[in-house]
Parts: sequence; structure tokens; C-alpha cells
Amino acid sequence: MLEQKVAFVTGAARGIGASISHQFAAAGYAVAMIDKMAENLQKTAQAVSEKNPSVYPIAADLSDLGSAKAAVEKVGKKWGRIDALVNNAAIHDFRTIRKMTSESWDRIMHLNLKIPAFLAQYATPLLEASKAGVIINIASIDAHFCKGVAPAYVASKGGLISLTFDMAASLSGAGIRAVAVSPGAVDSALRSNLTSEKGSDLTNDFRAASEDYIPLGRWASPDEVAKVVCWLASSDASYINGTEIEVDGGISHNNLSNTLKKRMYPDEFR
Ligand SMILES: NC(=O)c1ccc[n+]([C@@H]2O[C@H](COP(=O)([O-])OP(=O)(O)OC[C@H]3O[C@@H](n4cnc5c(N)ncnc54)[C@H](O)[C@@H]3O)[C@@H](O)[C@H]2O)c1
Repeated sequence: MLEQKVAFVTGAARGIGASISHQFAAAGYAVAMIDKMAENLQKTAQAVSEKNPSVYPIAADLSDLGSAKAAVEKVGKKWGRIDALVNNAAIHDFRTIRKMTSESWDRIMHLNLKIPAFLAQYATPLLEASKAGVIINIASIDAHFCKGVAPAYVASKGGLISLTFDMAASLSGAGIRAVAVSPGAVDSALRSNLTSEKGSDLTNDFRAASEDYIPLGRWASPDEVAKVVCWLASSDASYINGTEIEVDGGISHNNLSNTLKKRMYPDEFR
């Protein structure tokens, strides 16, 4: 078994998953990076390996359960342990209740909810081998702060949060913690592609409108989420378990836009 700690990061080729891979590598972990975009994955893995040479890029379409299992088996064979399983890969679409199809619903629920559940099952023996394993499920504040435009996505993320609670209740006896991390708006390809996606109900002023509801007034960088994920995997977070951590600039518990606040309370908000 490798002496170094091992992180297994899905959706690692770009965005938040790439940042998480960089953070783990900088913290001294060996990093298995899984993504279906083989070319992007190689480039990102090359950049991550400049921080730490123990990088294992695995090109795989995780919507296939067999490929997900094979990815875990490859890491087991190579390194014999997983200290942090990060379920980050996910997809989104803007098919509203009126527009969604059985196929579009299943595609999202399968990748965003079923695959994290089964990756956890496949990885459990390797997480146990690490003696202090942690499963970090990247959910979303959209699970409880909805816009009414992406029912399958929000349901998949709500399910993932509940699944996290169950994972903690079930696996803590084996020394495995489980935590959901719910980002708010993060400046990644997933978010910037949203307005151009087919079937989108949103307009091009999406960014300005969404920033107006964030008390911090801006989207997060992927690194601002990734640093929290890396910290949650560390022994400094050893008592954080079976819960959801929101990394959202304050939007989840805010109910008035910054524009209206400034108009209504000009002395308080400038
Ligand atoms: N960006 C945001 O504003 C935001 C907000 C809340 C939650 N999130 C969540 O954060 C996570 C990462 O989002 P992001 O913004 O970095 O997204 P992104 O689209 O930029 O990156 C997702 C990565 O997952 C990979 N992926 C997608 N389907 C895959 C499959 N079948 N097999 C293997 N890899 C696959 C993609 O190739 C891509 O590299 C997701 O779980 C997302 O739901 C993002």
C-alpha cells in the first residue's frame, strides 16, 4: 500500500474538479483524476503533476457503472488505498418540468446520484484501508434554493445530500466520514455554458442577476471551493461528518437582492 495519502477525484479535467486535484497534490496526496474528456484530462494532469508527480489520470465515462468500478479497481491495484473520494462529476440541463423527458431525467439522476452511491460502495474497502477515509460529495445549494428551471439537477443534488447523511450513518463505524459540499455560483465552464444550452429558459444577464443575490456580490473561483474540500479531507476536520457545508458567499440564507438593499437601506448598503 502507498504510504502517501490518495485522493480520487471525479470530473477532474476542468473546473472545480481540476482545482480540487491541484489542492490535493499541493497537500501531498497522490491524485487519481477521472474524467471522460481524455485530452483535457491529460493536460490538467500534466499541470497537476508539476506540484506532485503522483498523478494517475484515468479517462473514463463514469455514466457507465462498469467503467466507474474499473476506475476504482485501477487505483486499488496501483496504490491500495483511497483517503478521499470526491464525487464531483455532474451534468446539468435546463429542461423544466414542462420540457424534461424521461431520458433527460434518467441521464442526470444516473450520473449525479447513482454513480456517487456506487463509487462509494466500490471504494469502501480502499477507504477503510486508509483508516481515516472521507467521502466528499459535491452537491449544490440549488438543492434547497431553487430557480424552477432544472428539476432533475436540483433533485439529484438534494438526493446527494441525503445520500451523504446515510453514508455517514452507515460507514462511520468503519472510520469513514462523509460530507456534502454545496457550492453556490462558481465561475466554471458548467456555469458559463448554462445560458447557451439548448432548452435554456435563462437569458444572457444570468450572471449579473445571480451576483445581485449573493451578499458577497460575486461568483466564487473554483479554488475557493477546492480549498474547503481539501481541508474537509484533513485531520483538522476529523469531527465534521454527515453534514452539508455551504460554500456560497451567503446566498442560501439571503432573501433580498443587493440592488434592492441599496435602494431600501442606502445608509446600510453602499
Ligand atoms: N459551477 C457552479 O456554479 C456549481 C455550483 C454548484 C455546484 N456545482 C457542482 O460542482 C461540480 C463541478 O462542477 P463544475 O462547475 O466544475 O463543472 P464542469 O462542467 O466545469 O466540470 C465537470 C467535469 O465533469 C466531467 N464529467 C461530466 N460527465 C462525466 C462523465 N460521464 N464521466 C466522467 N466525467 C464527466 C466533465 O468532463 C468535466 O470535466 C458538479 O458536481 C456541479 O454540480 C457547480
